[in-house]
Amino acid sequence: MENDGAWRGSGYPSVRMRRLREHDRVRSFVAESRVCVEDLLWPIFVLEGTGKREEIEGMPGVYRMSIDEVLKRVVEVYDKGLCGVMIFPVVERSLRTEDGGEALKEENLACRCVRAIRDLCPFLMIICDVALDPYTSHGHDGLLCDGEIDNDGTVKVLEKMACVLAASGCDTVAPSDMMDGRVGSIRAALDSSGFEKTRILSYGAKYASCLYGPFREALSSGGLLRGDKKSYQMDPANVREAMRELSLDVSEGADMLMVKPGMWYMDVLSLASRSFDIPVLSYQVSGEYEMIWKAGGDDAGRWRLVEESFLCLKRAGARGIVSYFAYDWVCRFRGGVEDGGRGEG
Ligand code: PBG
Repeated sequence: MENDGAWRGSGYPSVRMRRLREHDRVRSFVAESRVCVEDLLWPIFVLEGTGKREEIEGMPGVYRMSIDEVLKRVVEVYDKGLCGVMIFPVVERSLRTEDGGEALKEENLACRCVRAIRDLCPFLMIICDVALDPYTSHGHDGLLCDGEIDNDGTVKVLEKMACVLAASGCDTVAPSDMMDGRVGSIRAALDSSGFEKTRILSYGAKYASCLYGPFREALSSGGLLRGDKKSYQMDPANVREAMRELSLDVSEGADMLMVKPGMWYMDVLSLASRSFDIPVLSYQVSGEYEMIWKAGGDDAGRWRLVEESFLCLKRAGARGIVSYFAYDWVCRFRGGVEDGGRGEG
């Protein structure tokens, strides 16, 4: 034997961590987390009209699209295995009112879009926000009463909104409004209207973040917002409070939970995914999209950043990731055209 036969314990040189990092195949084999098409949900901005596709300022590569344009792309990614989309209607200024009444109309843009997708994609999860902000003239998620948000009045409207969406074919309603008690009330309303199979994805830990700017611009609601959302969305300082919020939603009947935003809130995501036995999702929000887009430089650099961001959200415990990159990611990487960033780099 070359060596002196002395036992050197469990450390170097007998232990060499790099053995498991030698090449792509072994790295792939030992990877503790992976990103696949099933992990992603694609949020879509839908517009009135036909043949329309407008790029959103602040979100290069993301478009507001009319229903026909949405359908083409949704079918494409449904065929590639995507499990779900989220529908965000861009509601015309003239239809926005103080009480957001348009939200309850069966013929509104969101409901028409849901029905059109449902016709073509029977098993796609079609997830719709339950919150009034696309419909209110003041841009708030709830009703305003003497300058304050009326929690209980808002919950009553959200119950109806959830039922209208469910009736149009939305299988998963996603209250993103952060009113107290809304999950239980929406569950009861759905059940008593015959929608006991409709799932609730609760945005249980939604923070009053500065990262929603491009989204509000996309819905043209940014300029409308009177004040801020801090009386209902959470303070970025808090994580224990998030656990309390989430556990209330679980006890009220939420099927899945959302932590939002994504990357800056991974501690919340990680704790939530270990604390609750239901799927916990992460929302990579519009401001994160913008940052990744800009920081990536060229196309290749950008996709490496996207891949790493998805992987890290998975590692932190996300069962699924909502991302504006989902459509392009699924189109590019499904089918092994590229290696999804797992190669040298
Ligand atoms: C509205 C809603 C917002 C987002 C999703 N649903 C904005 C807000 O709360 O003001 C933000 C998503 C994003 O920034 O990508 N209830």
